[in-house]
Amino acid sequence: MLNVHLVPHTHDDVGWLKTVDQYYYGGESLSLLSVLSLSGPHAGVQYILDSVVEQLLQNPERRFIYVETVFFHYWWRNQPAAMQTSFVNGGWCMSDEATTHYSAVIDQMTLGLRFLNDTFGPCGRPRVAWHIDPFGHAREHASMFAQMGYDGFFFGRLDYQDRDHRRINRDQELLWRASESLEPPMADLFTGILPNGYNPPEGFCWDQSCDDPPIMDDPNLEDYNVDDVVKRFTKIAHSQALMYKTNDIIMTMGSDFQYENANLWYKNLDKLIRYVNAQQANGSQLNVLYSTPSCYLQELHRANLTWSLKTDDFFPYADDAHNFWTGFYSSRPALKRYERVSNGHLQTCNQLEVLGGPWSREGLFGAGDSETLRRAMAVAQHHDAVSGTEKQHVANDYARMLAVGWQHCQVVVSNSLAALSGSSADRVYCDHLNISACPLTEANKKFSVNVYNPLARPVLWPVRLPVNGCAYTVVPVSKATQQVRKDRGYAVNELVFQARAPPLGYTTYFVSMIQNGPPEASVRHGPPASIQNQFVKATFDPATGLLDSLTNLETEQTIRLKQTFYWYNASDGISSVSEQPSGAYIFRPNSSTPFLIPSSGRAESIQTPEVQEVRQQFGPWVSSVLRLYRDSRALELEWTVGPVPIEDSLGKEVVVRLDSSIRSSGLFYTDSNGREVLQRKKDFRPTWNLRQTEPVAGNYYPINSRAFIKDDEDQLTLVTDRSQGGSSIHNGSLEVMLHRRLLYDDVRGVGEPLNETSDVFPLGLVVRGRLLLSLAPPMLAADAHRPLAQENVLQPLLSFTEGAPPPGTLLEFSGLQAALPPAVHLLTLSQWDQDSLLVRLEHQFQTRESKKHSVPVTVNLQKLFSTLKVVGMSELNLSANQWLEEMKRLDWRPNLDGQPLRKPPRDPSALEVTLSPMQIRTFVLRVVRR
Ligand SMILES: *[C@@H]1O[C@H](CO)[C@@H](O)[C@H](O)[C@H]1NC(C)=O
Ligand SMILES: *[C@@H]1O[C@H](CO)[C@@H](O)[C@H](O)[C@H]1NC(C)=O
Ligand SMILES: *[C@@H]1O[C@H](CO)[C@@H](O)[C@H](O)[C@H]1NC(C)=O
Ligand SMILES: *[C@@H]1O[C@H](CO)[C@@H](O)[C@H](O)[C@H]1NC(C)=O
Ligand SMILES: *[C@@H]1O[C@H](CO)[C@@H](O)[C@H](O)[C@H]1NC(C)=O
Ligand SMILES: *[C@@H]1O[C@H](CO)[C@@H](O)[C@H](O)[C@H]1NC(C)=O
Ligand SMILES: [Zn+2]
Repeated sequence: MLNVHLVPHTHDDVGWLKTVDQYYYGGESLSLLSVLSLSGPHAGVQYILDSVVEQLLQNPERRFIYVETVFFHYWWRNQPAAMQTSFVNGGWCMSDEATTHYSAVIDQMTLGLRFLNDTFGPCGRPRVAWHIDPFGHAREHASMFAQMGYDGFFFGRLDYQDRDHRRINRDQELLWRASESLEPPMADLFTGILPNGYNPPEGFCWDQSCDDPPIMDDPNLEDYNVDDVVKRFTKIAHSQALMYKTNDIIMTMGSDFQYENANLWYKNLDKLIRYVNAQQANGSQLNVLYSTPSCYLQELHRANLTWSLKTDDFFPYADDAHNFWTGFYSSRPALKRYERVSNGHLQTCNQLEVLGGPWSREGLFGAGDSETLRRAMAVAQHHDAVSGTEKQHVANDYARMLAVGWQHCQVVVSNSLAALSGSSADRVYCDHLNISACPLTEANKKFSVNVYNPLARPVLWPVRLPVNGCAYTVVPVSKATQQVRKDRGYAVNELVFQARAPPLGYTTYFVSMIQNGPPEASVRHGPPASIQNQFVKATFDPATGLLDSLTNLETEQTIRLKQTFYWYNASDGISSVSEQPSGAYIFRPNSSTPFLIPSSGRAESIQTPEVQEVRQQFGPWVSSVLRLYRDSRALELEWTVGPVPIEDSLGKEVVVRLDSSIRSSGLFYTDSNGREVLQRKKDFRPTWNLRQTEPVAGNYYPINSRAFIKDDEDQLTLVTDRSQGGSSIHNGSLEVMLHRRLLYDDVRGVGEPLNETSDVFPLGLVVRGRLLLSLAPPMLAADAHRPLAQENVLQPLLSFTEGAPPPGTLLEFSGLQAALPPAVHLLTLSQWDQDSLLVRLEHQFQTRESKKHSVPVTVNLQKLFSTLKVVGMSELNLSANQWLEEMKRLDWRPNLDGQPLRKPPRDPSALEVTLSPMQIRTFVLRVVRR
């Protein structure tokens, strides 16, 4: 018998063409009416859930799966009565995989799954991960899903060449070994590719938004079509079965925002099942049933086959020869940065909520909470949110939610710092230090800065504050900064110093201006021959003024290094080869040779004991600063891009390129969701013979936190401050896409060109960011870039009070008894219940990556916190919705010999916790205050 599993489902984007709330209610702003055809007339999730539940109650055989817990949560809190449904995935949303950071993904999964467990108990726990829409699939996501206890994973989108190849080879279901470090089967995930993306087979869409004919089964009426329907369906089922291995196949019966009138779907599905199965009496071998992904997966498991093993990932995603979805890796760079900053804010807020005790939520500065930001961050992980593929007004709404969340968190942080320090001074936060604006430091001659460090080891962090006077080291605010700042600040100088902050704690600095007027550090015109501190030296070419070489003074290695900006001319879609324009999703340069953005020849340099910098202008709309702080081991490259001009009617995709003397032989490396690193090879895919059709876009990969190139001696690593796309198109070269401004929609549904402007930048958005460049021998490189990247993700939070700290203020505090070992990262510290905490400890090195750190390391939880005593502990799965000892996953066999599968060693023995490379362990700790 061929069993056909019909899976009724709906795909409800957590914001895309409409905002999250508009999608829930089915409301919309009138100006959007014309473009909403794709998502149905209302796209109202509340009606979908109402309608589906009513239909489910009518027939116990019927099934439905639901994915986006945020919508379900909205709906559930207004439900009078109990109901039953199956959940798959179960995160707050269906996260993007290319542009998200693992820390935020784990948080959003934890939030959604916790709601399901609180509401339905273990029966509500999804067994299957379901990412039917994300635009390519990250290996780290698969690794996380495995560690969250999922038995399997289904998705819809993969490269068209890969898909064709897998169809022919019946290789659409496989075992993904998603970590090079974790002992199998810890990160093994059974993975299935759905047959029609996530749509129903052709001719079988019975939603109100489709026009396929219903099943007309009264022989007395005109248009009786049962025989035809049965025949067509039988044919489709048998040809689908040829592309899969077992006698069970799956069909997704639904699509975007479907089931608003669920009766249409269910009435026809009931009939389909009845009429197709009736043929069994006449010898048909086809059996159709209502099913769920979990039930389908059970059958695949029962088949007891072996499955091919995959160890790379599903990037980049192309749906045709010139349609590479590699533009969204960089789309909306300001939103991507804001999301990353907000993740740092949330972790800091969580930590201070714990450290400050109950006063944090209800204290000196009123009532605050971390939940608002937690939910806003969870929504921002959606595959049309941080990905940058939503409409402009929806992007604005995501940013608004994050800003509201941060306001709620500021109260928590202020309350907590007041409780910890004993100072009741009013505390302010400056969110625009990136453009040198902060009203308090601009206006005051005396102020205090609290530097809170959310990492579990001490940091030395360069602080730059806008001031109008002199003290210690000040440097003049640059022209480029004045231009982006506009009228949002008026400081003439920036005070620069390196703050030292203890692990999970703060230091308070008191600043007193000693005079008004210009800084002592003078600006020199023209580039210097070199800048250097005790660790790093960068030299400049006297002829061009541009960067020429980079030296690591500790290891005495030097590479040639050039830095240039280019823009790719975006395709407008008017071409005989393909009508695909570049847009929010798709990167399609009109030519593989980008245009150089020439240096204006104007350079300024500043050399002080605290910081040395070389400021350069490239044309009128790009500038950069190469900067070296006193004790930094990395060279900072600050870039400012925009407004990208469009008067010539050409869309532009702006990249920075680093050309080095490293012999990289077509290889480069990019991280997956900020964690493990994958090797990339130009014009190559590990599992099929690539026919390369886009020499640039087809070689782009997501960079979430770092990328590098290397040869035997030298590794040049670049750490980013947000998710970006990048590649190595030439040997020795690394490029990163910084900003994109496009004039055409790329016909993937969003219906708008990516043409960002804002109130402050009506002529086009200006964006600024930082890349950190570090040079090291390959075996020592991770020792530098792992901590560097963590520092960049969890930057210290600065808060300011006027004047000197009041007498009696505790000027320094650490929440830890001692710093954690360098290999261990405190990934999560947040309040779980009244007297328990959620804690995640992470080994932040891969195997074989570091001589020193790629080894197991042990931490004693009892000796962790300075103010909290641990009185009980339980270990959970990664998403904290199941006790680890209860976690049992289906086992799947890869089709290769040997490979004994060992269970990872556990040490339930009290409070000593051992972490092996890349392992994350999740605990609920019951604590009392010391
Ligand atoms: C089975 O075949 C017989 C003979 O062809 C036919 O009369 C009958 O209607 C068929 N039954 C179904 C359920 O199609
Ligand atoms: C699955 O297959 C293996 C090898 O083919 C066999 O040893 C094992 O008994 C089978 N398991 C079940 C449950 O049938
Ligand atoms: C840029 O691309 C457009 C459209 O794809 C093309 O018409 C135009 O000639 C190109 N311009 C340059 C300067 O290459
Ligand atoms: C892009 O934005 C600018 C500034 O708002 C506007 O003048 C221009 O018409 C827009 N172009 C397109 C193609 O949307
Ligand atoms: C500065 O940072 C804020 C907040 O993170 C961000 O929204 C803004 O876009 C940044 N400004 C620039 C010019 O990049
Ligand atoms: C899940 O919820 C139940 C109550 O419904 C609770 O007893 C259990 O501890 C929860 N599981 C986890 C892992 O939090
Ligand atoms: Zn979607």
